[in-house]
Amino acid sequence: MHLMKTNRDIHQQKWIWHFEKNRMNRKEPDWQMPFAMEEKKRRALAWSLAEYQLGDGGGPCCLIARDADVYRASSSSTQRVTDMWFREEAEHSRLLSGAVRRLGGTFVTDTFAFRQFQRVRRFMGAQFEMLVLLQVEIISTVYYRIIRKHCDDPPIVEMCTLILRDESGHISYHRDRLCQDHPQGWNLFQRAWFYFLGYACAAVLWLGHGRALRTIGMKNRDFLAQVHRGLRGFVRSVLRRTRCGQSKTVLLPRHSHEGRAF
Ligand SMILES: [Fe+2]
Ligand SMILES: [Fe+2]
Repeated sequence: MHLMKTNRDIHQQKWIWHFEKNRMNRKEPDWQMPFAMEEKKRRALAWSLAEYQLGDGGGPCCLIARDADVYRASSSSTQRVTDMWFREEAEHSRLLSGAVRRLGGTFVTDTFAFRQFQRVRRFMGAQFEMLVLLQVEIISTVYYRIIRKHCDDPPIVEMCTLILRDESGHISYHRDRLCQDHPQGWNLFQRAWFYFLGYACAAVLWLGHGRALRTIGMKNRDFLAQVHRGLRGFVRSVLRRTRCGQSKTVLLPRHSHEGRAF
């Protein structure tokens, strides 16, 4: 038990270094650049990004599960790495605010979906909350890739690239954390549960933002294909690492500026 805790601390220390390093070389998008966009597209993007600004770090930017304090207090490295992860989430909210202002959008401070999401996060334990946040990160990766592909405004494209870079690290962090917690890998039930939560999360995104994303040029089949690829990629990477016994060692984050975490 003591050894496991030590391994976890070493693993978390690696991620603390990652988050420290990731704070460097962050070029702020040039929000003052001249702006030109088709009105229909501008309106759709402004609405969608304003809602996303609330969800991606704009609300309570920390773990809010009923046992969150117990989880954070389990070790100093757990507390540090969790805080660093959420500091990047707060940065996403700041970047998204820049995009909303550029698009002339109206900031959103509360929605029904957001309230329900907070309720779920609060009600379940910290482990479940982190699993749900991981799903949101995988599905958000799809969202930002779609925005980046269909939005031809350079500062917004740059913002998406920055957020994708961070989310890629977050997904890898969760993967390594889960591999530590489940060194034997996931059984069939755990995999089915993961896919179920992932598709539920994708459905919420599609219902809420599908129309706006279609307005800027997204095709439903591309959305579905990317969601499936994201979830399957994550499950396979967990299986690969646990099967090889790599979860016993500390894995450095592997991601690129393309925002792919696996
Ligand atoms: Fe985020
Ligand atoms: Fe994230």
